[in-house]
Amino acid sequence: MRVPLLDLKLQYAPLKAEILAAIEQVADSQQLVLGPQVDALEAAIAAYTGAGHAIGVSSGTDAQLVLLMALGIGPGDAVITSPYTFFATAGCVERLGARIVFADIDPLTFNLCPAALKIALSQTPNVKAIIPVHLFGCCADMNAIQALAAQYDVPVLEDAAQALGCAHPLGSAGAIAQAGWYSFYPTKNLGAFGDAGMVTCKDPELAAKIRQLRNHGMEPRYYHNAVGGNFRLDAIQAAVLNLKLPHLDAWGQGRRERAAQYRRGFTAEGLNGLLGLPTEPWAQSGIPNHHIYNQFIIRTSRRDALKSFLTAAEIGTEIYYPLPLHLQECFKHLGYHAGDFPEAERASQETLALPIFPELRDDQQAYVVNKISEFYKSGDLAGENRAQ
Ligand SMILES: Cc1ncc(COP(=O)(O)O)c(C=O)c1O
Repeated sequence: MRVPLLDLKLQYAPLKAEILAAIEQVADSQQLVLGPQVDALEAAIAAYTGAGHAIGVSSGTDAQLVLLMALGIGPGDAVITSPYTFFATAGCVERLGARIVFADIDPLTFNLCPAALKIALSQTPNVKAIIPVHLFGCCADMNAIQALAAQYDVPVLEDAAQALGCAHPLGSAGAIAQAGWYSFYPTKNLGAFGDAGMVTCKDPELAAKIRQLRNHGMEPRYYHNAVGGNFRLDAIQAAVLNLKLPHLDAWGQGRRERAAQYRRGFTAEGLNGLLGLPTEPWAQSGIPNHHIYNQFIIRTSRRDALKSFLTAAEIGTEIYYPLPLHLQECFKHLGYHAGDFPEAERASQETLALPIFPELRDDQQAYVVNKISEFYKSGDLAGENRAQ
């Protein structure tokens, strides 16, 4: 049996006729950039998340970049974030000439650790933003992070690239703090037909500035009082996203059911002591979308051997992320070293993403669980599990 990490064709098949019709409508209109489909998507995302303002842009990366530009973040400023995230979170800060300051993660949630953030805040001058990342589709500890931010009077900007629709007791991911952003990269829970993203914010003046910078700072036409970029969103992407958005909660529910199925399977196989499973820190709050499982991440000290074993069994897995950002070649000049963020470093050695998507079949999941069990049972015979 073959189990891919993600199979987008299964989501596309039942929507194909509708999607192609929506694309045809955009083609017939020849309104290809911004326009009514983008306006509709912005209104729909604002309503869905409770964000005051939503501005459609060309990618999640560009969403963060244009937001930081609108906030005037640049040389001399510091921005605190997690070293265990997709590159863009830190890359955008570096591109604007601001200083990236990392704070370690919580080992259970993989999100920014408030205690580490507190230390970073106390040691860093000129902090202009704190960026928590709602990694894998579960919110960071926003109560603690917002409280620290208020104490230091620093805005919180949420990297909700992986977390549209994920709920926290304080609100919807990306719409809790002053501002945030989403990615609609095809592998996200709400994926476009290419690259697309969205910025959210509470302040109407900031929203107006982002709208201006999204289009080269132009206002009125061909008059520029600020330098922006081409961060405009294509109408075809917005049309596809408008059509998919009403399915997002059901897809999230499907992913949670797949996650629960993995838990039952691992328990039945007696693997709970050997595998770390995702935590659900906000489940007790009673909100249904407390985790949207953009990824289902297990943790094991035998990660690389397990990945090879599963690859040989035709099971797709991925490592998010194999090298924490403070150890990336391009960030050498920041002066960080191995050992600076032990939790992020350990996570990068031990985590593995398993297949999770709403259309994943029971027999495929049972096969994944059985193969993982087989791996550990053969390890027991060889004494490898005891050596952990
Ligand atoms: C945590 C995080 N931040 C930012 C981004 C950037 O989004 P995009 O790929 O749409 O530019 C991603 C996308 O992979 C992400 O996962």
